[in-house]
Amino acid sequence: MSDKAVDKLSEKEAAAELERLAAEIARHDKLYYTKDAPELTDAEYDKLRKRNTAIEARFPTLVREDSPSTNVGAAPAEKFGKVRHAVPMLSLDNAFDAEDANAFVAKVQRFLNLDTPPIITAEPKIDGLSASLRYENGKFVQGATRGDGREGEDVTANLRTIADIPHAIKGAPAVLEVRGEVYMEKAAFAKMNAGLEAAGKQTYVNPRNSAAGALRQLDPKITASRPLRFFAHGWGELSEPLAETQYDSVQRLEKLGFPLAGIKRAKNAEELLAIYNGILAGREKLAYEIDGVVYKVDMLSLQQRLGFVSRSPRWAIAHKFAAEQQTTTLDGIDIQVGRTGALTPVGRLKPVFVGGVTVTNVTLHNADYIRGVGADGGPIRGGKDLRVGDTVVVQRAGDVIPQIVDVLLEKRTKGARKYQFPERCPVCDSHVARELEPGEEGVIARCTGGLNCPAQAVERLIHFVARRAMDIDGLGSKQIEEFYELGWVKEPADIFRLADHRDELMAREGYGEKSVTGLLASIDARREPEFGRFLFGLGIRDIGETTAGVIARRFESWAAFEEAVKRR
Ligand code: IVH
Repeated sequence: MSDKAVDKLSEKEAAAELERLAAEIARHDKLYYTKDAPELTDAEYDKLRKRNTAIEARFPTLVREDSPSTNVGAAPAEKFGKVRHAVPMLSLDNAFDAEDANAFVAKVQRFLNLDTPPIITAEPKIDGLSASLRYENGKFVQGATRGDGREGEDVTANLRTIADIPHAIKGAPAVLEVRGEVYMEKAAFAKMNAGLEAAGKQTYVNPRNSAAGALRQLDPKITASRPLRFFAHGWGELSEPLAETQYDSVQRLEKLGFPLAGIKRAKNAEELLAIYNGILAGREKLAYEIDGVVYKVDMLSLQQRLGFVSRSPRWAIAHKFAAEQQTTTLDGIDIQVGRTGALTPVGRLKPVFVGGVTVTNVTLHNADYIRGVGADGGPIRGGKDLRVGDTVVVQRAGDVIPQIVDVLLEKRTKGARKYQFPERCPVCDSHVARELEPGEEGVIARCTGGLNCPAQAVERLIHFVARRAMDIDGLGSKQIEEFYELGWVKEPADIFRLADHRDELMAREGYGEKSVTGLLASIDARREPEFGRFLFGLGIRDIGETTAGVIARRFESWAAFEEAVKRR
């Protein structure tokens, strides 16, 4: 392990060190959580995590997606079989206040063209993780996590260990997929954590993470030893309907043996809000954590008419409880240069524990956002600008990214100066242009250096090799940065000429015969890439994964696509 003091690390060294720490901590997590065979003492393990946190605090822009500070426990996802959901597992749109809830009811009524609102159900939103349980002829045959909604992980063996989940049911449709939430009770969580602590093991931050960790254990015996529970709240594939309404359907599930967290019906928005307030008032007394109230149109025929918008149903919404807030100081503002040259300011915060996690950095989006101007041109934070040194109110709600929601002006120091957004790229010194884009009055500042800007070039290359694009094993941000600096890889095509540097590469520290052969083999394996992945990998602005997929399905090959483009 490198012992260089954190405050002596260059940005490049810090990035490499964060990558190394992420891998190392993940390895120890796995040894600890899934193998129950830790190699490090807790003090040694803590030292790794502390070093990681300290480097992240100093270089917030370098915080990795797989950062150990955002991951709890091991996620041996690749070890589980995949399950394709016959009916996708959707997510829910959110309402954050009474106004949003009223708007939902009004919109539903308008969409259905009704004189009065339809009956709508209200039930607690359980803070757990969703699972789908498949029963065939009354037998529990398969259980899966949500995954990306279309495909989840096969955790059947683990779900079988949960006492709330029946192995066999009587009087059910021949095919029945029960959907619901796996969770851990607050008291059980506290007790389990106390046990872990006494045993000198690492504890979990909240019941949800703990339930997620337990459900994704490779060894069902470990899952069985964790006090997991289940609430049903819906269904997936069915060979025949359960009932005509949401309410009656879940009552039927309850009769079949699945626990419900309680569901009520309301005639209008006012009644819904009364139920919401009742659930909110009783929140603390509940044995489990909830983070809001879910409203669903009761009649299934109306649900069907309402349908879906992208990944959430139009017939349901989650009315979330207000987020937790904390104050801290804004220690600095750094600029990140992205793949498309966009300059994104990142606020560096004095670490603060809010909404269940420690927040050290927060995106500040753009210059307007810092000035106190929102995307619609109206004021945000009451129009207050952000200055380095300010005392700020940070909010984090559930899965929403942390935000600065207010500035305490009375605590602003006299010398605090307005933030000057850079006019030149901090990486390549090119001029920064505020582009006029449809719908966004030039809020995005971009480095005009294009691929001459090392930051843009490197980000483009990293994007190209990433898992969701070309997915080249053994080529990550560290290697790309190294090869870019050596001048070996300046553009995607250069990756496929890396073999020219085979001997030089083998002579470099950290590489050997085996790793270089492996790397070149995984590059060779991508010489004829899937069209959609390749197109997405090019990192063209506005061509995201979805659009690239649509184009790929339409044209099927690069040649056909090129032909069509030429013919235009
Ligand atoms: S209904 C098509 N009801 O919240 C709608 N979801 O934010 C499917 N959740 O993925 C969801 N409690 O895992 C529904 N009473 C409840 C819920 C609930 C928790 C979770 C669920 C979903 C997520 C969406």
